Amino acid sequence: MKREGFNSKIGAIAAAAGSAVGLGNIWRFPYVTGENGGAAFLLLYLIFMILIALPVLMSEFSIGRMTGKPVTDAFRQISPKGHWYLIGFSGVVCAFVIMSFYNVVAGWTMYYVYLSVTGKLQDLTTAEVSQTFHNTVSDPTISIFWMVIMLSLTGYVVARGVSGGIEKYSKILMPVLLLLIIVVCIRSITLDTECKGISFLLAPDFSKLSIKSVLEALGQAFFSLSLGMGTMTTYGSYISRKQNLPKSAMSVAIIDFFIAFLAGLMIFPCAFACGVNPGSGPGLVFETLPNVFNQMPMGWIISIVFFLLLVVAAVTSSISMLEVLVDFLLSKYNMKRPRATVFAITLTIILGIGCATFSPMLDFFDNLSANVMLPLGGFFIILSVPVCIGAKKMRAEMEAHGGKFKLFPVFYFLAKYIAPWAILFIFVSKMLSWFGIELFD
Ligand code: PHE
Repeated sequence: MKREGFNSKIGAIAAAAGSAVGLGNIWRFPYVTGENGGAAFLLLYLIFMILIALPVLMSEFSIGRMTGKPVTDAFRQISPKGHWYLIGFSGVVCAFVIMSFYNVVAGWTMYYVYLSVTGKLQDLTTAEVSQTFHNTVSDPTISIFWMVIMLSLTGYVVARGVSGGIEKYSKILMPVLLLLIIVVCIRSITLDTECKGISFLLAPDFSKLSIKSVLEALGQAFFSLSLGMGTMTTYGSYISRKQNLPKSAMSVAIIDFFIAFLAGLMIFPCAFACGVNPGSGPGLVFETLPNVFNQMPMGWIISIVFFLLLVVAAVTSSISMLEVLVDFLLSKYNMKRPRATVFAITLTIILGIGCATFSPMLDFFDNLSANVMLPLGGFFIILSVPVCIGAKKMRAEMEAHGGKFKLFPVFYFLAKYIAPWAILFIFVSKMLSWFGIELFD
């Protein structure tokens, strides 16, 4: 069977950006940044994006396109004798883990669309808005019901295939998402008359950073760019050889960072204006934005559209996780696409029910994936570049479109000497701190 692929350059970028931009940017980034002190964390995050995450993204795209295979086979192909294929398997496991909690949160966003449509978020006080969120997360029926709807939507798109489903929908949904974020951002900034939110995001206070923040920033960079579990490797395998890979990777990273930044601009000014603590954890988006909407003319419409777009952002990301699983099932068990989709979704629902009923499991999966599985996956992926592929082959792949990648020596230097060791170092110091050994204090 011929492997499917993206039909256009823009479509490929939209799909990869669709994967990258999601709850990670709009839900996770603001709350992690809030918990880690704001601007200094943002700076750290930017540095990790450039020095570590971007090279990993370029590597994933290249390995995918070079091999044209699903993740497990891709890593087997670059090193037939070693155990690198395990990276692919860990990606498959990780896809399940992330999908299960991600779709619970995504389900909440969908429930908030429902609440907005029925006017149940209107005219609430800040305390009532917080209470609504609390009621949502503590009711497993709500979480499970909306999670199943979210997964069904994701499945609908994935079952339609790579260009007819993923590419087509990403190309429509991504621009709309951007537009809406800008509208909400403008309103939020104008609420913050004392500019506290903006300075929280832009004026760094390095005393707020700890070694924990360093790992969080790295984890966030991986999570946000969908790295370390083969999503981008799989998408890379759908990209045409005529496409400029390094440039596409840079576009995706820039879009991803920009949207996370906008999400910060959207949440923090509003949080300060409404008296919500920016470090209040995973509920931040749900507890701040309804307050802004309540203070806007026609706020309820914006509220509907905003949460709908959050759903959209979540769906395009969820699609990319499901695609890793489906692509794996298609090639390994020779299943048909619709059947593989239903199979993967059913398993995810089972795991998701655990996250929906037992919130520590959700937090644990969130932490485990972003701070352990993805960075470790990323470490092995980027290490496979110097160890299994080598500069010559890598360069040939990155320049396969016929142009020159002038920054290749910088990329290779980062891939060989900086990125893997920085990941390992941060990771190990974090592990040690779990056992009470602090390298930095
Ligand atoms: N990048 C997605 C987001 O920001 C989440 C994701 C992680 C998607 C890993 C795929 C793989 O929401």
